[in-house]
Amino acid sequence: MCGIVGYVGAKPAEAVVIEGLRRLEYRGYDSAGIALVDGGAIVSDKRAGKLANLEKAIADSPLPQVTTGIGHTRWATHGPPTDRNAHPHLGRARRVALVHNGIIENFAELRGRLESEGVEMASDTDTEVAAHLLEEQLETGVDLTVAMQNVCRGLEGAFTLVAVDSQDPDRVVAARRNSPLVVGIGEGENFLGSDVAAFIEHTREAMELDQDQVVTITREGVSVSGFDGTPAEGRRYHVDWDLSAAEKDGHDWFMRKEIFEQPRALADSLLGRRGTDGLLQLDEMRLSDQDLRDIDKIIIIAAGTSFYAGMVAKYAIEHWCRIPVEVELASEFRYRDPILTASTLVVAISQSGETADTLQAIRHARVQRSKVLAICNTNGSTIPRESDGVIYTHAGPEIGVASTKGFLTQLVACYLLALYLAQVKGTRFGDEISQVMDQLEEMPGHVETVLAKAEEVYALARDHVDNRSVLFLGRHAGYPVALEGALKLKEIAYLHAEGFAAGELKHGPIALVEEGLPILCVVPPRGRDQLHDKMISGIQEVRARGARTLCLAEEGDTTITPYADVLITLPQVPVLLQPIVAVVPLQLFACELATQLGHDVDQPRNLAKSVTVE
Ligand code: F6R
Repeated sequence: MCGIVGYVGAKPAEAVVIEGLRRLEYRGYDSAGIALVDGGAIVSDKRAGKLANLEKAIADSPLPQVTTGIGHTRWATHGPPTDRNAHPHLGRARRVALVHNGIIENFAELRGRLESEGVEMASDTDTEVAAHLLEEQLETGVDLTVAMQNVCRGLEGAFTLVAVDSQDPDRVVAARRNSPLVVGIGEGENFLGSDVAAFIEHTREAMELDQDQVVTITREGVSVSGFDGTPAEGRRYHVDWDLSAAEKDGHDWFMRKEIFEQPRALADSLLGRRGTDGLLQLDEMRLSDQDLRDIDKIIIIAAGTSFYAGMVAKYAIEHWCRIPVEVELASEFRYRDPILTASTLVVAISQSGETADTLQAIRHARVQRSKVLAICNTNGSTIPRESDGVIYTHAGPEIGVASTKGFLTQLVACYLLALYLAQVKGTRFGDEISQVMDQLEEMPGHVETVLAKAEEVYALARDHVDNRSVLFLGRHAGYPVALEGALKLKEIAYLHAEGFAAGELKHGPIALVEEGLPILCVVPPRGRDQLHDKMISGIQEVRARGARTLCLAEEGDTTITPYADVLITLPQVPVLLQPIVAVVPLQLFACELATQLGHDVDQPRNLAKSVTVE
């Protein structure tokens, strides 16, 4: 997820673009760049780090005062956050400058073709190929709009592209497929942005585009077409949000916005994982197939929410790959003298990539000669840099302190790792792996279905504002979901909340149950007869002692009805994948309850987003 701005009008483009980028910095902040069209040439500057670094560079070496420009704040996906990988990217003749949000899935193939024709790449990004392809098109004599249509037809993946042509200074052209882009409509000026925050201080008139469309803005107007050149109409609307709501896409909190971004984040995290031969490819893996075949034990280390993703990973890896997996809190790992050998794979899960406990744990593992694989959302952060391989989750930056889309995309990365190991070790047939991939690819749609019922969950949360304690029960892959549901409630609603494995109830926790105590129960799919039935027994036990049972169960599970005071239905999915859909109502529940209690949901007391001390 990156921030994109485009401008053409009468004002100084540099100021409009930089201001727009400042408003979009929450979308990505590991590097920033700008390109202006100045009398037949592109003038560009780009810097790693926060936008302030770019502003300082511009202050030291001012850009020309011109009125057409584009800009970008990056959240790295391909290539570390360095000056050379920052956007804009230029074509080899420096005629085109281009910025991009998303992932071009077939970039490797396109890059190979361009390199074989003598194009020298100036970056490690997937984006740069699009700049070269656009320039190639312009050289055939078409204009930037047609060039963009032609290039987009050959791209796969999800992308928003915005480009300028030095030979056509009054035109900015953009395209979108499954990635955000809005047009701001002004008087004698027009804007492009990843969202309306980019231009809201200039105009509140906006235009929405459909998928697979190209838009051209000039001072005089806006025109839209399909990738095939067919003219199209955008949908105009008036923005009545204030700036802070605009950054949050109309939501009251970044956390809520991030919960609703999960279908997109899941889809992005799955992009480009299947090769043309149908095999899984994890190209940031850097560990050879032989290294992976030699693995005889996996230890997953993580903290907090990431630890719960690791617990789910254990179920998946052991089931699909038959490799023993231990899951360990990073803060405990070093202090128990863990048995590590060269055939142990240590998997470090960290959204931020900077958590000190996890970092110290991987350093310890590497000293013992174990291989370390990171699962991380932050390209270029310390944990992936110090690991032997990395699977990046593509959630985009998570601003709310409580992790939501970070967790869901970690789950996807864990499933991908498990399937990849199964492929390499041959513990599952190719068609079985493909079937799970198909099921994973259906997950964004299933999460949409759950989100469509948000109001039902909010009403439930409002009914519980007076409760001081809430318990969560789960079994198997639903157990980490129960723990995560409880953690969310502790973090942002400051309520006493505990998650339990349902089978453990009678070994102690059931003593906590009293009249009216709300217990959120994650019911496994019916396909797992024993697991499902055992869970129902657990629910009966707590209900018999006066608990109010709030049950999450799959659509059509009528066996739960007699024991559920409240029933929230989930889409039917396989048991191992159920955490992806089951955790979403728990996130919504915590977010709404905390809102009702008047807490700062995005910055809960005593917590920090990145815990860089042990
Ligand atoms: C909970 C939460 C924390 C983090 C934990 C690890 O909502 O965000 O529990 O999961 O601090 O952080 P990362 O994943 O950045 O290592």
